[in-house]
Amino acid sequence: MASPANFWDGIAERYAARPIKDVAAYDAMLADAASRLKPTDRVLELGCGTGSTAIRLAPYAASWTATDFSPEMLRIARAKQAPDTLRFILADAQSAFDGGPYDAICAFQLLHLVDDVSQLLAAIHANLKPDGLLISKTWCFAEMSLPLRALFRILRAAKLFPKARALTRSELRQAISAAGFDIAEERVFGQNPHGPYIVARKRPLAKETLAARQLLSAKG
Ligand SMILES: C[S@@+](CC[C@H](N)C(=O)[O-])C[C@H]1O[C@@H](n2cnc3c(N)ncnc32)[C@H](O)[C@@H]1O
Repeated sequence: MASPANFWDGIAERYAARPIKDVAAYDAMLADAASRLKPTDRVLELGCGTGSTAIRLAPYAASWTATDFSPEMLRIARAKQAPDTLRFILADAQSAFDGGPYDAICAFQLLHLVDDVSQLLAAIHANLKPDGLLISKTWCFAEMSLPLRALFRILRAAKLFPKARALTRSELRQAISAAGFDIAEERVFGQNPHGPYIVARKRPLAKETLAARQLLSAKG
């Protein structure tokens, strides 16, 4: 069976060549993300794609580990000029946490693509330092118009669209909060209301939740 990374390998060149739709909105989002980082921060990025965001943000942190499960996306990222503090690693998001805990974990346009968003959010939480930040942008297309969603289904059937979960903004917010985060910022950059940028701060877990998680992970 084809791995989900194959889809991204197949479109990597086109993805890299695609111009950013709204440059002002992208720049404003990066400015916000940069303002939340400290020069001493160690940052992990999940699903970094061709590395454009990592290259822009890495200078604001002490080190930036950018990960993706698509070898082709990473091949393009590695060919770009990047700061010495940035490294690209091939890893599935769910198992990309070596070297943690981190001060911040970024997931731009990723959370709707994973099989189990709650599981990934729990792993992000576990691999952040106390008070660490999740900085994310997620495509929540469950509230888009019916014709558009029908079109996505057709594109998906034709393998022109990745496997993705139709989240509402409220479902996403709830999942982030249930994983143990306080939402510090939720806003939209640009015109599209379906791609919220969410910054969330790790909340210490209650002792009982922590004990239950430790028990589950000990059981494997
Ligand atoms: C929509 S692109 C976003 C890329 C980049 N973050 C950006 O904002 O331009 C999604 C990226 O996530 C990667 N991806 C999807 N599912 C993944 C997973 N389970 N683990 C790691 N990377 C994943 C894909 O290979 C792709 O590069």
